[in-house]
Amino acid sequence: MPDNSYTKICKTEALRENVGIKIRIQQKDIGIFKINGEIFAVSNVCPHNRASVLHNGQLTGYEITCPHHGWVFDLKTGECLKGYKEIHKYDTIIENGEIWIKLKD
Ligand code: FES
Repeated sequence: MPDNSYTKICKTEALRENVGIKIRIQQKDIGIFKINGEIFAVSNVCPHNRASVLHNGQLTGYEITCPHHGWVFDLKTGECLKGYKEIHKYDTIIENGEIWIKLKD
């Protein structure tokens, strides 16, 4: 079992390839994505306008485009590729088909 900095969020089978979901946990909105079988978790809140919408963005490979005004983020790093502020990328672990996310440092 992962250490206590990780929180279990859902089963991997709950996610569909290339379809983002939003979860709210410990007052954080987090976007979860499955791409090529890998899980990515980032802040779901677009830093442009503080809108919790990234799970509904357009996926192109590992890049997500915000559906509001088109800022683009790299889901592997959280880097902002179009716009000027990155998003937080959360570490994840998969164990026994369950996704765990690191919420604490
Ligand atoms: S709210 Fe995301 S680009 Fe404006």
